[in-house]
Amino acid sequence: SKMKLMFRPLLFHLLLFCSVPGVNNEGVIETELEKSVSLVCQHDGGHDTLVDEELVWLRNGAVVSLTEGNKKGRSSVCVTPVIYDDNGVTFSCHLSKNATVTASVTLNVTYHPQLSGSEEVAVEEEAELVLRCDILANPPVSSVSWKLNGSVVDLLAGGFSLTNDGFTSKLTVNSVEKSLHEGTYQCTATSLIYGEHSKQFSVTVTETTFKFPLMPMVAGVVVVCLTSLLAVVSRWNRITKVTHQTHTLHYRAHN
Ligand SMILES: *[C@@H]1O[C@H](CO)[C@@H](O)[C@H](O)[C@H]1NC(C)=O
Ligand SMILES: *[C@@H]1O[C@H](CO)[C@@H](O)[C@H](O)[C@H]1NC(C)=O
Ligand SMILES: *[C@@H]1O[C@H](CO)[C@@H](O)[C@H](O)[C@H]1NC(C)=O
Repeated sequence: SKMKLMFRPLLFHLLLFCSVPGVNNEGVIETELEKSVSLVCQHDGGHDTLVDEELVWLRNGAVVSLTEGNKKGRSSVCVTPVIYDDNGVTFSCHLSKNATVTASVTLNVTYHPQLSGSEEVAVEEEAELVLRCDILANPPVSSVSWKLNGSVVDLLAGGFSLTNDGFTSKLTVNSVEKSLHEGTYQCTATSLIYGEHSKQFSVTVTETTFKFPLMPMVAGVVVVCLTSLLAVVSRWNRITKVTHQTHTLHYRAHN
């Protein structure tokens, strides 16, 4: 079904036909990511003098280049595939001769949060665990929930902290404990129009590798080396001194 967005300037009618989606009263076309939107601008019948008038399309104020046959009397632009950046973009069409006669529509690109699949996460005992879910969606998600082994995550008991900045929902544990934190996590974002989308994390807690004693060991080796070097140096000193003494004695013996 075609819906028309009608503008009634004094001279003529400029119609904007939007083939697939509907246009609401505010001149907004609702579409989805990856889909196609075709916008057609044409002069309303009755004014034959305008049939050959050249039309100009603007995307957010920037001129859209059109092929020769797509300029006079009727012109269409196709947005395909619709991408994130098309959200909120305004397309307008006007007569090349007279920019005051114009029609425009704004795209409202809806999309669900990009949540799916499962991720394997290995974390060491006592290390920090951070799980992130991308919850960006249009319209914004109405809620985000986190589960561990099928039960709602008990933030207090597990020492978790949860943040949400509208883009990412982040579940954090500062110091992981195997008994409390190992298991299957799931974040679920709920959208009023797209329903639920989830992502899983299989978290395994591994034993702490001995990173910590490595530094003292290196320091120990350095100390041992320095000590040996000092020992050699002092012995060398003593040897030269002894040699010198011997020499002196020898010299004196000659006199
Ligand atoms: C452009 O169109 C408007 C509205 O129809 C009209 O009032 C105006 O005189 C036109 N301007 C030119 C330069 O033709
Ligand atoms: C876009 O469409 C969605 C779904 O109908 C709606 O909730 C949202 O308010 C719209 N956004 C704008 C800017 O019109
Ligand atoms: C979650 O389930 C796994 C597998 O049954 C179990 O090993 C783990 O201890 C459970 N985690 C928690 C925090 O209860």
